[in-house]
Amino acid sequence: MDKVAIFDTTLRDGEQSAGIGLTTPEKLEIAKQLDRLGVDIIEAGFAASSPGDFQAVQKIAAEVRRPIIASLARCYPDDVDQAWQAIKDAARPRIHVFISSSDLQIMAQLRKEPEQVLDIAIASVERAKSYCDDVEFSPMDATRTDLQYLYTMLEAVINAGATTVNIADTVGYTFPAEFAERLRLIRENVPNIDKAVMSVHCHNDLGMSVANSLAAVTAGARQVEGCINGLGERAGNAALEEVIMAIDTRKDLFQVDTNIDTRQIYRTSRLVSDITGFPVQPNKAVVGGNAFRHASGIHQDAVIKERTTFEIMDPRSVGWPSNELVLGKLSGRAGLRVRLEELGYNLEQEELNDAFEQFKILADKKREVTDADLIALMSSRRRTADVPAVYKLDHVQVTAGSHEVPTATVRLTSADGSTSTDASTGTGPVDAVYKAINRIVGVTNKLTEYRVDSVTEGIDAIGDVTIRIEKDENAYIGRGSDTDIMVASAKAYMNALNRLLASAEDGGQPDDPSP
Ligand code: KIV
Ligand code: ZN
Repeated sequence: MDKVAIFDTTLRDGEQSAGIGLTTPEKLEIAKQLDRLGVDIIEAGFAASSPGDFQAVQKIAAEVRRPIIASLARCYPDDVDQAWQAIKDAARPRIHVFISSSDLQIMAQLRKEPEQVLDIAIASVERAKSYCDDVEFSPMDATRTDLQYLYTMLEAVINAGATTVNIADTVGYTFPAEFAERLRLIRENVPNIDKAVMSVHCHNDLGMSVANSLAAVTAGARQVEGCINGLGERAGNAALEEVIMAIDTRKDLFQVDTNIDTRQIYRTSRLVSDITGFPVQPNKAVVGGNAFRHASGIHQDAVIKERTTFEIMDPRSVGWPSNELVLGKLSGRAGLRVRLEELGYNLEQEELNDAFEQFKILADKKREVTDADLIALMSSRRRTADVPAVYKLDHVQVTAGSHEVPTATVRLTSADGSTSTDASTGTGPVDAVYKAINRIVGVTNKLTEYRVDSVTEGIDAIGDVTIRIEKDENAYIGRGSDTDIMVASAKAYMNALNRLLASAEDGGQPDDPSP
């Protein structure tokens, strides 16, 4: 079977989602998981857009060795040079250049003539080619581009050395049959098209990005670009997990395959949601909390008798964690190690000892510890490990009720080991906790989002709190989990505050990258 290459742009287009800003360690962690997932290409960023992006691309290129590592570049000599500087140490580097191709964007935005744009595109591909054999070219807004001009541009950039041409539905304008027809026409009218891989990059403004990407595969596209959980500019890009599982489930129809290890899908989705703070909607295909939940009694009965009656995918094939009891209060370290390894976490002895302590505390509170609980525990460990702890939460105590003034007392330890205790009242218990913490930390900020999700079902479920705080127009995500949601709220706030304090030490967040 033919293969379709999966090009992940979570770290570039995904990071362009309003409200997402990732640090280099966070990007590296996502890139390592994308590697485990088996994506063919990781677009690690847009090197010329900011020093932060440059550094992240460089780091990923140095450390993630199996997949192709790409950097985006506008058709400016300096962008192409910077892209190369950032990826030159990659085992398999790729420069991805793009320029607008529709009359609308050429005239209204670039304010150039189409002939000038063509020359710039050719010169940029040649420049990229002088550095690197693997060059991708994207005509931006290709679905609103005059077809004759698109043919000319594609032929010219392939002659100049482009090895992949990426037909971008930048504004999510096209529809499946129309897009497939456009690709068919490109194959018919661009004489050297067989010298390049035909790729697609679809946005989701009309909710068509996955359908358009799949229609393109039937019309000969052999690379699909997208983001985990459908992240991306505006309404996002094609959700890669959906594209992958559609191809996997309907191989009979598509007659193609991917190199993806689908069992890594759930974990990748969780990690991206965790790090970006963007939740996955419960009814989201493939990775939503309800994706494999049957509410109807008739369906439940049938699934117990024969799973495939109402399930077209085996939940295990996407790495869905079982909610069955896996470990309990009496489980030992070895049992924890084995279960964590099965879930894809390989810990050094010291890390395991530490995780075991936390597991014991959880098992004491919950008695039954499921895979989902273990994943939450590991996420929470990662979140604290990622951010230098300027302050650490030692203790929180809250009183609240219908006739009480909500009051919280907190104790924090700072990096030098000293502890501080303070208390505050508030409009509610969370407000009281945050005000008490503010009295110690003393950094003004605005809480713009607060959300509680439950990791598993049941009264003893772990609560997962996600918050967003803002200071000087920068946003910081914080997450915390605990069986007590007040403790989870306090942990989430400390996580966000530590990010804010660490970023202040670094001189603030990198600029917003956007092509
Ligand atoms: O949407 C788009 O056109 C892009 C290009 C840079 C490929 O993201
Ligand atoms: Zn895009």
